[in-house]
Parts: sequence; C-alpha cells; structure tokens
Amino acid sequence: MSNKTKIDTESNFNNWFDSKYYHILYKDRDHDEARKFITKLLEHLNLKKNMTILDAACGKGRHSIEIEKLGYKVTGIDLSKNSIKHAKQFENLNLKFKIHDISIPLGIKFNAVFNLFTSFGYYNRENDLKTLLSIEENLKDDGVGVIDFFNIYNVKKNLIEQENIIRDNINFNISRKTKDKLVEKNISFEDNSIKYSYKETVNGLNLNDFKNYFKKTNLEINEIFGDYELNKFDLNYSPRLIIVFKKKSQSN
Ligand SMILES: C[S@@+](CC[C@H](N)C(=O)[O-])C[C@H]1O[C@@H](n2cnc3c(N)ncnc32)[C@H](O)[C@@H]1O
Repeated sequence: MSNKTKIDTESNFNNWFDSKYYHILYKDRDHDEARKFITKLLEHLNLKKNMTILDAACGKGRHSIEIEKLGYKVTGIDLSKNSIKHAKQFENLNLKFKIHDISIPLGIKFNAVFNLFTSFGYYNRENDLKTLLSIEENLKDDGVGVIDFFNIYNVKKNLIEQENIIRDNINFNISRKTKDKLVEKNISFEDNSIKYSYKETVNGLNLNDFKNYFKKTNLEINEIFGDYELNKFDLNYSPRLIIVFKKKSQSN
C-alpha cells in the first residue's frame, strides 16, 4: 500500500483556479494571443479611448493589461485570490483589479463587459443565467458585451482524452471527457510525495443554450464570431464561440 498522502480537492471547485498548481500548469498562458485578440476586438467594436471596460473573470489579467495599454480604463475581477494578487502588480491609474464574483453585479456600469477564454459556465445553469444578468446589470444602456466561450462541437471532435504535461518537475496527468452536457477535466499529479487530484467542470453550452439564456435577459445577440481573428462562426470548424451583445433597446 502506498504511504503517500492523497489530497482530494474535487469538492471545492475554486480550489483549482486558486491553487499554486493551476498557476504552475498554466504559467505560460498566451499573452501574445490575448494582445492580438484584444487589438482586433477593440478595433472591431470601435470603442472610444478612455471608455470603461470590465474584464469579468480576468484571471491574472492578461487581457485587462492589453486593453489598458490601448487607452481604456479597465477593471478586472476574478474569484481567485492568487490571480488577483498577481494581477495587482500591473495596476495603475487606469487599471484596477479586484476579487469579486462575476455573478454578483459590481454596482458600477461600464461601456463594455468582456468575459473571455471560457470564463463562464462553471456552475449550474441557474448560475449561468445569474452571471449573464449580472453582466447586463454592469453594462451601460448603450454598452457592449462579449462572451468568448469554446465551441462545444469542436471541443468534442478534438478532445484529447489523456495528456501529460511536465512543468517545474511536476508531471500533470490530465484526462478529459464530455458527459451529460458537461466538459470534465481531471488533473492529477504528485508533489513532494503528496498526491493531488483536481476536477474542473464546465457546462458544455452551445449557441442555442446561450440564445435561451439571452431570451431571459434584456440583452440581444448582435454578432457571432468563431475565432480570435473574428472570422464567422462555423459550427463544425470554429474553435471558439464569440458572442457580441447589447441591451435590447440599443441593438441594430
Ligand atoms: C479559464 S480561466 C480564464 C482567465 C482569463 N480570462 C484568461 O483568459 O486568462 C477562468 C477564470 O474564471 C474565474 N472564475 C470562475 N468562476 C468565477 C466567478 N464566479 N467569478 C469570478 N471569476 C470566476 C477563475 O478563477 C479563472 O480565473
């Protein structure tokens, strides 16, 4: 029998995003990708400089940092204390970070609210709607919102069921599966003779699911893109599902 301690951290979802291991595994998350996407998106949305933008579930702030560099006033919020602690080193007059749950309105209205890189759908469906309503509440009447989610059809088609990634001498064993409209990722590894196991579960939302959520809000979908180059969304081939929306009275 193994004498190694096993830490099962599955019960508390946010443990994973806040753990030091999440940050080790994803320390190289793509800043270049963030910069290119943000530049393209802001150019397309044609938002005036100095406008206010909320980066909802900003992680360590890679998009927020780029948005501010382009001349906007940015607030980044995330539940992960460690991510926000990291992001805070980049703060300046126009760039602020705060620990906050995106499903609870901030009480401030922004010209734009972005939710990027699959930062939606981590809880039950009621919470998805609560989050969307919170985004609506955080938007000015003429504001614009963007949700960048994965394209579930593409995820299923290209699912890597088993993968090993070595970072900082830790061998992360990652397994993925889709079941019951959920995408489940199990991450297990050993560090200092302690075994860890984490689970990340995301709702496998498709465009119709989002449309049904939007029907229950005062928001309306304006445009749908399928990748960070802002090409048209294609159910079969697009890697992303990028939804641009506005308040109903302001669309068209
Ligand atoms: C896949 S990461 C993406 C982070 C960031 N947008 C990026 O592209 O680097 C998802 C993020 O959502 C955050 N998150 C999940 N649920 C949240 C909630 N209810 N409120 C705030 N942040 C949340 C996690 O802490 C994590 O940082």
